[in-house]
Amino acid sequence: MTPRGSGPGDATAVAHANIALAKYWGKRAGNENLPAVPSLSMTLQALHTETRVQFLPGLSADRLSIDERPRSGRELERVTRLLDSLRAQCGERCFASVTSRNNFPTAAGLASSASGFAALALAASAALGLSTALDQVSSLARAASASAARSAFGGYVALESGAFAALPLLPGEHFPLCMLVTVLSELPKSISSTSAMLHTAQSSPYYPAWVQHAPDVFARVHSGLQQRDIAALGSAIEHSALCMHASMMAADPSVIYLQPQTLKVMSEVRRLREGGMPIYFTMDAGPHVKALTLPEHAAEAEAQLSALPEVLRVIPSSPGPDAHLLS
Ligand code: PMV
Repeated sequence: MTPRGSGPGDATAVAHANIALAKYWGKRAGNENLPAVPSLSMTLQALHTETRVQFLPGLSADRLSIDERPRSGRELERVTRLLDSLRAQCGERCFASVTSRNNFPTAAGLASSASGFAALALAASAALGLSTALDQVSSLARAASASAARSAFGGYVALESGAFAALPLLPGEHFPLCMLVTVLSELPKSISSTSAMLHTAQSSPYYPAWVQHAPDVFARVHSGLQQRDIAALGSAIEHSALCMHASMMAADPSVIYLQPQTLKVMSEVRRLREGGMPIYFTMDAGPHVKALTLPEHAAEAEAQLSALPEVLRVIPSSPGPDAHLLS
């Protein structure tokens, strides 16, 4: 397929965000950005990033624009690092113009780095005529942001502890769940997940317990998914999220992403469950709550959660596809 934007040096890719059902939090020693625990995610149909990469002879440095705003500093450095590793592989000397658009708020704990780096890895590889095999795209994205490794693939995806690339585990059709993303703030997160997880590893007495326990929770999530057992899966995803947040709350000083409105939505999810609805929550490095339910309960769950004054909006999503090039 010839990528959109035409010809050598220019390609556009789309990758979808993913939400971990079994969480990744913590890195292995060394500077390869390898995860210390196994994680398992659902790729989301509704949230995506589209990224165009153009290698242009006239540029004196890489340029980055996200959602129509030019970016510099750390955001640009992370993009340049990924592009440098590809330039080194093929001897390319040109800098690139990178234009990226999310259909959801950037850097607010809605996994924009995951879809962003997966789309960048695929578009840049295609623009340079390098391999666009998704396991290679996944490995390249993982070096920038480990959760991004999972956004290379659609459906349900695993990233093993110490792995370079994610693995597609099960297609979305195996268990077509609905994830309701409740957006509780449009503000960027207070501390990056990279800094917060290093700080947790260095200072939380609960971090070793988290690393030791995470494989058991991963196994429970995997088995609940394989058996299409929403109750087993749901209780495991809540446990994974709360163990991860407990590990960072016990850091010194603590890292707290959860806000008062987060707790309100968590208790609403539990209230709905007590009323008989199979619905379970998870939270990442931000205040938002993501609620998982069966498709037949999605409309009622969306109506109930949208009615809360704390909820700005609800984005329902089914499982999404692999990252792909646009032609
Ligand atoms: O890949 P990072 O550095 O953005 O880490 C994200 C980690 C969580 O989103 C909190 C959990 C996960 O597994 O996605």
